[in-house]
Amino acid sequence: MEACNIAPMRFETLAAHAGRHPDPANGAVVPSIVLSTTFERQPDGSLPGGHLYSRMGNPNRNAFEEALAALEGGAAGVAFSSGQAASMSVFHALGPGDHAVLPLEMYYNTRGLLDAQYGRWHLQASYVDTTDVENVQRAMQPNTKLVWIETPSNPRLQISDIARIAAIAHAAGAWCVTDNTWATPLFQRPLELGADAVTHSTTKYMGGHSDVLGGCVVVKATENELYRRLRSYQAQGGAVPSAFDCWLLLRSLPTLPCRVRTQCASAKRLAAFLAGHPRVQTVHYPGLASHPQHALANQQMSDFGGMLSFEVKGGAAAAIAVAAQVKLFLRATSLGGYESLIEHRASVEGPKSPTPPGLLRCSIGLEHADDLMEDLAQALES
Ligand SMILES: Cc1ncc(COP(=O)(O)O)c(C=O)c1O
Repeated sequence: MEACNIAPMRFETLAAHAGRHPDPANGAVVPSIVLSTTFERQPDGSLPGGHLYSRMGNPNRNAFEEALAALEGGAAGVAFSSGQAASMSVFHALGPGDHAVLPLEMYYNTRGLLDAQYGRWHLQASYVDTTDVENVQRAMQPNTKLVWIETPSNPRLQISDIARIAAIAHAAGAWCVTDNTWATPLFQRPLELGADAVTHSTTKYMGGHSDVLGGCVVVKATENELYRRLRSYQAQGGAVPSAFDCWLLLRSLPTLPCRVRTQCASAKRLAAFLAGHPRVQTVHYPGLASHPQHALANQQMSDFGGMLSFEVKGGAAAAIAVAAQVKLFLRATSLGGYESLIEHRASVEGPKSPTPPGLLRCSIGLEHADDLMEDLAQALES
């Protein structure tokens, strides 16, 4: 992006321009995909493009990382090959004997990753209900190095207070990292609220088309141990996205604000419809006044996003029967794409899942909200 006097630029403008530079060699507005894994040195040993080897950096990845940093308002973006690899990079920044505080409710594989991979390394973890900041305060230990937040949480969209939790983490000398996948940087600004870093599964809203797997960490500052560890883990561990993945992700960012605004508007309408349906026990959507942390969501988010979940009266069998009847929603896992998805979450999470058995999770896509509503209505009535 050329330096210009329009500062600070608004989100939509950053989404359209950040990380995009016309190619100086041929003027191409859309970046080329650079597949080369290695880059030629000059006779004096210098690397004119600044690239050495594509595990360490590549023009498409650098452009995508530049855009990520701009959208989250951070100092740098660090891109990975999946959301899990991004989470792993943060856990890897901890050492044996360190302690982390995490939410009881979050993407189930984040906990799975910690328990399966890092328990063996003697990393200690406490899982608490982070919707009550007192629980976070009580869980802090002298060796706590990380407080992890996921808000809204997967799958019940619980809301945790980023500013207050970041303050608790910092008072104890710990990092505060927020998984911002569900909110997107359009609706929630964790770095401005005090978090040290934000993670994303860029597979979701950033990619937006269900055709690329990716993840990232965006840090607030680069002159610190967290950033140094993330970068060395990225370059040495090598869980990096391909040039084509980065190209696809950068291609999707200009439409991010339009997509998620539409998805959010439809989610609001569907949440209200479901809340009034006699076969629905509970709707989990932070935009509803009935949501237990609606006031907090109103305060820390500019809007409530495109995800919702609801519990069908009658438990697992009733919920699975409803999911079996949808005609427009696709029965598939994941979220954030242009197509609406529905899934019986406890089945995906397995036998130890704490998710209520009657819960269906919906990722609202870009279809007309009336069509989606009619689909859910006929599925609930059949
Ligand atoms: C909130 C959240 N974080 C992280 C992940 C993991 O991302 P990925 O599937 O890209 O590894 C997911 C995946 O569903 C998620 O929902």
